[in-house]
Amino acid sequence: FNIKAFESDLLTWYHENKRMLPWRESRDPYRIWVSEIMLQQTKVDTVIPYFKRFMEKYPTVYSLAEAPEEEVLKEWEGLGYYSRARNLHTAVQEVVENYGGTIPDEKKELGSLKGVGPYTQGAILSIAFNQPEPAVDGNVMRVFSRLLLINDDIARPRTKKHFETVVREVISKEDPSSFNQAIMDLGATICTPKSPACLVCPVLEHCRAFEVGAQAELPVKSKA
Ligand code: ADE
Repeated sequence: FNIKAFESDLLTWYHENKRMLPWRESRDPYRIWVSEIMLQQTKVDTVIPYFKRFMEKYPTVYSLAEAPEEEVLKEWEGLGYYSRARNLHTAVQEVVENYGGTIPDEKKELGSLKGVGPYTQGAILSIAFNQPEPAVDGNVMRVFSRLLLINDDIARPRTKKHFETVVREVISKEDPSSFNQAIMDLGATICTPKSPACLVCPVLEHCRAFEVGAQAELPVKSKA
């Protein structure tokens, strides 16, 4: 696996084909954070109008921190998984109280905030702060299981740790922000769960699953 050639092919494709999404208009860590929380259990197309409304109503950490909880939950209505909204509301209040309103750019500090687990830490650190940190969710595991022919069972909790180690080894050190977002776009538009569009994949020549015709069998996911 040629890491440098892979990075170059992936980033070239991303820069020419990236989806225009409202949370990609700036690198404001607050906007990135809100978008990643909304996107955790909800599809991109559903999130877009909610994200736009939320940002108009609460453009800053302070405006969200000061809002009444019932009002925030009202904005969230229809997105579901309301604990995400409650945790986010609590967490921005923690940012105001403990960090002077500035979202931390350090993993431990981010991890101390309510509702900010390893995925969200990695997403904020890489996308907003351009740090070479993995942000591994199910889509990222699917893409890398195919690229590197990894047959670990993604239903096992420890498998995510393994993929984090893998992504650390291959992530772009020059542009980790684009790298992680490129993997997300690849997983959403080309390296899809069913019938991946391998013939138009920008990194086809780096894909070990395609080489052996195993893309439909990956990722491995036990039912239990
Ligand atoms: N899914 C999760 N995070 C995303 C992002 N930043 N862009 C597009 N899709 C995503």
